[in-house]
Amino acid sequence: MKRYAILCSGGDSQGMNICIKAFVNTCATHDIIPIGIRRGYQGLIENDMIFLDGSMVENIQGLGGTILKVSRSAEFRTQAGLDKAVRNLKKNGIDGVVVIGGNGSFNGAVNLAAKGINVIAIPGTIDNDLYYTERTLGFDTAVNNAVRNVDDMMQTMDANSRGMIVKVMGRDSGDIALYTAVCSMANSLATKELGTTIDDIVEDVRTSINNGDVSPLIIMSENCDFDLKDVEKALRKDLGIDTRSTDLGYIQRGGTPTMFDRMFGMNMGIMSVELLMQDISGVAIGIKNNELFYTPLDTCLNARREFDTKLYNALRTMHNIGKK
Ligand code: F6P
Repeated sequence: MKRYAILCSGGDSQGMNICIKAFVNTCATHDIIPIGIRRGYQGLIENDMIFLDGSMVENIQGLGGTILKVSRSAEFRTQAGLDKAVRNLKKNGIDGVVVIGGNGSFNGAVNLAAKGINVIAIPGTIDNDLYYTERTLGFDTAVNNAVRNVDDMMQTMDANSRGMIVKVMGRDSGDIALYTAVCSMANSLATKELGTTIDDIVEDVRTSINNGDVSPLIIMSENCDFDLKDVEKALRKDLGIDTRSTDLGYIQRGGTPTMFDRMFGMNMGIMSVELLMQDISGVAIGIKNNELFYTPLDTCLNARREFDTKLYNALRTMHNIGKK
């Protein structure tokens, strides 16, 4: 019987569990032995593997995190680490491995494929920063979590006529910030891609106040090179307004996956097994216009996507602030 393995790597993201469940159940349907590699590439180096079965994944579809756990493995980036990983895959008779993760994990998958390992990569990161695909697994849930929390906070800001500055995740990408800002109708958005300065934020807020807003909302990405307190200080000094700030942190990365992430995770889990069965490997799964596709793994990391200025300008229009 064939043996396929699955691992989650980098930061966890919502939808990884349902993806694992789909992988296990699809393997079972085709008499393939499903193996879970725990703690990502570090677990692979340390031969930390378990046989998976239906009972182990029975009710995990609604859970954030991952039952297989994750790691960010520095050792796997060394030649010795990679060689150990390859040896363990061979020793355990694994015919194909599915990697769920972000860009660092994709790099690792490319290195495994170069060693002759059959690899399928699945984009799993809340950051939406793998640009060959329109969406990464967990992004939709992370944005929904952020928006729900911002909505709650704005009720109390509104009651107090205060402004609010919220920092959201996204190490290399302002997408969480953009989508959160649009859905929560922020008066100002700050991201690295837009090159936003503190003066830009002050101007947006000034215009909003002139337009009658009493509790302006600013969403900033963690990829900006200034921090919450800098913005608070500038708004107090230049506009004399009282604001509060919150770093949303890991609330964005946990919690029950949305409908989109459940469907996306499930369908990619099924497809990963089907591709390996057809002897297709060295590819990554992605989504475009709501359809899954696969593409050579080594081209994925070079792909680039423009920041969605159309969406950003729609937000500015909502506040009667000029387009950029
Ligand atoms: O997984 C992506 C991400 O959540 C980024 O948005 C964030 O910068 C980073 O991971 C945080 O990493 P860690 O979990 O190692 O603190």
